[in-house]
Amino acid sequence: MGGAEAEFAQRWGGNAARVIRAPGRVNLIGEHTDYNGLPVLPFAIAQSHRLAVGAGRPGVIEIANADPAYPAKAIRVEDVGAFSPAGEWDNYLRAALLGLRDAGLLGTELERRGLRVLVASGLPARVGLSSSSALVVGFALAALHVCEVRYDRLELAEVLAEAEHYVGTRGGGMDQTVCLLGRPGHALRIDFFPLQVEPVPFEGDVEVYLADSGVHVEKSGRNRSQYNRRPIECRLALAVFQAWARANGRPELAAARYWGDLVKPPLGLTHEAVSSMIPQALAPIPYSTDGLEEHLGLRETDLRETYLTVGADDYFAQPSDGFKLRQRAAHVVAEAWRVEEAVGALRRTDWPELGRLLDASHASCRDLYEISCPELDRLVEAAGYAGAVGSRLTGAGFGGCALHLVRRADAAGFLDTMKRLLGESLSLFRVGPSGGAEIIKSL
Ligand code: GLA
Repeated sequence: MGGAEAEFAQRWGGNAARVIRAPGRVNLIGEHTDYNGLPVLPFAIAQSHRLAVGAGRPGVIEIANADPAYPAKAIRVEDVGAFSPAGEWDNYLRAALLGLRDAGLLGTELERRGLRVLVASGLPARVGLSSSSALVVGFALAALHVCEVRYDRLELAEVLAEAEHYVGTRGGGMDQTVCLLGRPGHALRIDFFPLQVEPVPFEGDVEVYLADSGVHVEKSGRNRSQYNRRPIECRLALAVFQAWARANGRPELAAARYWGDLVKPPLGLTHEAVSSMIPQALAPIPYSTDGLEEHLGLRETDLRETYLTVGADDYFAQPSDGFKLRQRAAHVVAEAWRVEEAVGALRRTDWPELGRLLDASHASCRDLYEISCPELDRLVEAAGYAGAVGSRLTGAGFGGCALHLVRRADAAGFLDTMKRLLGESLSLFRVGPSGGAEIIKSL
């Protein structure tokens, strides 16, 4: 009996009905493109949460964690919407269940059967491996299985991407999708609105290493407003771009709901065409809210309601350095093109080309999207000296891990040099494309 199951039996007596594995993810390339309706290329990893689950007391959900940092909680089904302060782990359970309820996937069975979940994790938190989305997925699967609800994984991924907004972060759908649909030996090219998944083989004489920058990321805590700022800037950038398009004989471009709609049918522009319009449409200097109201012909309240909302009665204020619209738009459009190129490089096992794309992505994340930090930049720079084929930050940014693509034959030298440059205590570990969430035990 494994850790989660043994703890379940010890805490509640009786065996868990199911054990669920919910993996973390690493994004190879395509950062902050998902919520713009543009593709990403992540893979699921072996590092996972394990959840031992079973029915419990009617009307009550009980969660416990093998790690004492996460205290056990008992929540009444009817109070599931009463969120705890930001950062508390039961919020991920609440978000998952509200999302399922909104989508009509949870009936009255949960009330009748109750739910017990014991989490034991081999997936570290706050290092950018998406442990929070994996937890949301794990909790959702726990409820669905205990209530014997049938579900479709693609549909569930969409539901849970939306559900995670309940914790206050306006993320996209990459993490939940790859957690549910990851495939061993493959990266997934995922596109959004509508959600589409294409497995791309990722095997050959290369390995992927992650180096932990030591800077924690807390997307729904400390880094929430830094993260939320980006989707807001992208939406504003699209609105200003469309105002320009209207004034310049391209009114049809106003139909795009996301940046991705510009490059997909029916509009179907090339990435180059969009990239070349950005410097004409968007000013290089940051925009103020006053400037945006004037530019978009909106009253203050309309600007707020339409573009600056992050939650109920929660509005995003103008950052002290303004909204950097041209820089953000330039990043997402070029990054999406790099994803397409990376898919080709993977299929051809053209590692130098993939490495070049990873390096270019990092530079863009650092300079245009401003989601890097000195610790991540140092890792990327050191990895270049240590012989990596390419390196970049991975995930939301602001800390977490850097990813390094290394030829298998060079791996020992790479590890040695990295430790020599950055110290023996550097946490450097290998990750590989694994399967998505699975039910590993079912009675
Ligand atoms: C976080 C979000 C994802 C995505 C990445 C950045 O992981 O949850 O949806 O936006 O950041 O690529």
